[in-house]
Amino acid sequence: MGTRGNSVFQPEGEMAERVRQFDWRRTPLGDRKNWSDALKQSVAIVLASGAPTALRWGPELVRIYNDAYGAILGNRHPAALGKPRSEEWPEIIEEIGPLCAAILSGERSPFFAENRQWHVRRRDDRVEEARFTVSCSPVPDRTAPNGIGGVLVTLIETTGQHHVQTALRESELHFRLLVDAVVDYAIYMLDPHGIISSWNSGAQRIKGYREAEILGQHFSRFYTPEDRAAGVPERALAQAAGGAPYRAEGWRVRKDGSNFWASVTLSAIRDETGKLVGFAKVTRDITERRQSQESLRRAQERLAQSQKLEMLGQLTGAIAHDFNNMLMVVGANTQLVKRRMVDPPSLRAVEAIEHAASRGETLTRRLLTFSRRQTLNPIVIDIRERLAASRAVLSSSAREDIELVFDLPQQTWPVLVDVPELELALVNIVINARDAMPEGGTIRIGGGNVHVSPDDPLDDLTGDFVALSVTDTGSGIDPELLPRVFEPFFTTKGPDKGTGLGLSQVYGFARQSNGTVRVTSNPGEGTTVTIYLPRAAGSVVGASRPPPEVEGRSGTERILLVEDNPEVQEVTAAFLEELGYRVSLADNADAALVLLAAEQDIRLVFSDIVMPGAMNGVALARRVRSAYPHIAVLLTTGYAPQQELIDDTLAVLRKPYRLSTLSSTLRATLDRARAANDRRLASD
Ligand SMILES: Nc1ncnc2c1ncn2[C@@H]1O[C@H](COP(=O)(O)OP(=O)(O)OP(=O)(O)O)[C@@H](O)[C@H]1O
Ligand SMILES: [Mg+2]
Repeated sequence: MGTRGNSVFQPEGEMAERVRQFDWRRTPLGDRKNWSDALKQSVAIVLASGAPTALRWGPELVRIYNDAYGAILGNRHPAALGKPRSEEWPEIIEEIGPLCAAILSGERSPFFAENRQWHVRRRDDRVEEARFTVSCSPVPDRTAPNGIGGVLVTLIETTGQHHVQTALRESELHFRLLVDAVVDYAIYMLDPHGIISSWNSGAQRIKGYREAEILGQHFSRFYTPEDRAAGVPERALAQAAGGAPYRAEGWRVRKDGSNFWASVTLSAIRDETGKLVGFAKVTRDITERRQSQESLRRAQERLAQSQKLEMLGQLTGAIAHDFNNMLMVVGANTQLVKRRMVDPPSLRAVEAIEHAASRGETLTRRLLTFSRRQTLNPIVIDIRERLAASRAVLSSSAREDIELVFDLPQQTWPVLVDVPELELALVNIVINARDAMPEGGTIRIGGGNVHVSPDDPLDDLTGDFVALSVTDTGSGIDPELLPRVFEPFFTTKGPDKGTGLGLSQVYGFARQSNGTVRVTSNPGEGTTVTIYLPRAAGSVVGASRPPPEVEGRSGTERILLVEDNPEVQEVTAAFLEELGYRVSLADNADAALVLLAAEQDIRLVFSDIVMPGAMNGVALARRVRSAYPHIAVLLTTGYAPQQELIDDTLAVLRKPYRLSTLSSTLRATLDRARAANDRRLASD
């Protein structure tokens, strides 16, 4: 736009030129010189306007338009100039024509519409959909019949803008659908203060809130009260606002108050100017993953623990076996020497040796038990009945300021156990409980039948068990130390106070009895040790006391002693002779069979179980039984590598043994054999 001269305004541009050049005499408007002032003025305004503007003048609605309007007309321009309503753009004129006519006649007020959709042909005759914002206003002219000379039309094309908006709306919708389709993730937005401003179906599924009840709330309500008190949500916002997304795992709270383990990402959202407009929060419920990881870790720990105990067991078992033979020699020889001793000082010295040897025996016995190489003589018992019999022993293991409560149910399944070992295990546990309660307290012995299903095995065990638990109200065990309590020599008691073998015995005994043991503890509150013993079939053997052991000579029969260790053989032979028996010697099973064939008067075979050569003591015993049914067999061992091979009809004497025990056992075995022989002879 510009001015020529300094008084008369002349619009510039292509259309201004065309209007001037146009031969208006061929149109209903007639010669330009005769146009009314209103028309001239209006044409000047149209041509000077920056907006796409046109004028429709007179009853025929002849069109005059500006450059911007021409651009919208496409290939209809410039032919559209000076055309009456009937001659151009039929697509639009259908609507605009009657409208303009009505405005011109004063029948209707100005018209305005946004984004109106029309189908137009303006390129290659192709019909295209276009959108316009349009306004039509009357132009006053005093010379016109009803004071309105024409209509001023402003036409702004909004097709492009409309497409952009539609695309934007669609993409927003798609995004919304996408976000909502993700049900495994809670995806939602927060405003810069942490107020929730959007919600997806995943969020509803994971957290339990519906969109309507959670929008407008602060996101800190998903945190635990402890985390809220510690300011965790605020720190998360601050960190995310600082730049890098905030990532964390932690407990979150659902609407119903339950907790889940969440993996969360919080990222700041900024507009083009960098201003913080809010946060995007993505939360995933990984409780199950965490649980399976946890249980895997625990299973691995337990496995490592049991492998360690297994290894320690093999080690201690091997050491204990050798010790047993040595202690057998020391113990037996002292007993023999003592019987011939009269001088009191020497007697005291020998007694000191004997005492030390017997302590060594106890230690070795516990080690053997831990390594599950103890020679067990299991019998089927009723736990409750046996406990009643052990009451005095257990009470004396505790102290006066400790109350011992027996709390077992009336009926428990029978179990197959070695009774002295069970009693020793309980004593060990009770002593531990006592030591954990220096100020006094209560020890409760309880338990009952439990069924262990394959879904939730106890170590590697399933089936029916009788649980025997000992609960104290003592100091408890530090969780760090808990996994170590079964290890041999693990003790927290001072030097000379504990050997760290008590629970090792309990563990070995329980495992060797085909059961297991568990310890649970709350520091400061107490400890429970539970022994699980498998349910046994068979009838219960009553709690009768063993016959009193007889001292002195016990018989004169010939005994075949089978023992590979020369020192043990020598001292055992001395024992047997001391008791009055006659003795034949063999180093192994084959030699024993040769002697049995040669010597007619052998009445009993007393054999070690573990021996070099193809045949061990158990195999020898079976051979003797079938070939010489009248000969009694007594086995002995300090070490039972193949406990399962020994059937319960074979008598086994545990090494090391005392002279008195040997005496009574031999006598009983010989007498039983004699009685069986008499029965056999009578029935023949
Ligand atoms: N009831 C209990 N309360 C607290 N701690 C216990 C309890 N039972 C066992 N412990 C802990 O386990 C450790 C090992 O126990 P364990 O019976 O094997 O050995 P010890 O008692 O130390 O020695 P020992 O029994 O050979 O005399 C103990 O030193 C103690 O720290
Ligand atoms: Mg102990």
